[in-house]
Amino acid sequence: MVKFISKDDILPIRNEILREGKLTLEQCRFQGDDNPESFHLGYFDGEQLVSVASFHPQSYGEFVGRGYQLRGMATLKAYQSKGLGTQLVNFAIVYLRGQKVNYVWCNARKVAASFYGNLGFEIVSSEFDIPGIGPHYAMYLKVQ
Ligand SMILES: CC(C)(COP(=O)(O)OP(=O)(O)OC[C@H]1O[C@@H](n2cnc3c(N)ncnc32)[C@H](O)[C@@H]1OP(=O)(O)O)[C@@H](O)C(=O)NCCC(=O)NCCS
Repeated sequence: MVKFISKDDILPIRNEILREGKLTLEQCRFQGDDNPESFHLGYFDGEQLVSVASFHPQSYGEFVGRGYQLRGMATLKAYQSKGLGTQLVNFAIVYLRGQKVNYVWCNARKVAASFYGNLGFEIVSSEFDIPGIGPHYAMYLKVQ
């Protein structure tokens, strides 16, 4: 099941899956994680946290209205491809709609673009490189 979790709870999976376990937990924090309007979601298998994502208030480009950036989407390896990431983002979309947010966007790794595409996100930038991580696209989903 999906639950709201704290800005500290997300760090171990963020490090293991997105930073190959190479950083300290402190180094895995993103600017804005502690913004009171940011929120963090986790998917739990029983007691175990297995998938995480963070949502920060942040506009993108010329898009009109209130935007949120999806950041740090990661599912533990043993739990990938089971639909958990999809459930987590769909939970966020319903919540954001309730909060009168207009759109959500992310810098999607090229390898994960199909994941976001299946959720309805569209590519809205040319391909760009994030040094040390690889090729990305900005992707956008209208929430309302
Ligand atoms: C991308 C990711 C978050 C998806 O989470 P998930 O819980 O596996 O998502 P779902 O099971 O709901 O969806 C899986 C679908 O996403 C797509 N996908 C894209 N990249 C994938 C990846 N590296 N591994 C698994 N699925 C991936 C596939 O279409 C897949 O469908 P399939 O299993 O039928 O092939 C997860 O695979 C992950 O943590 N990957 C490594 C970190 C990463 O790339 N994060 C995204 C940063 S932008």
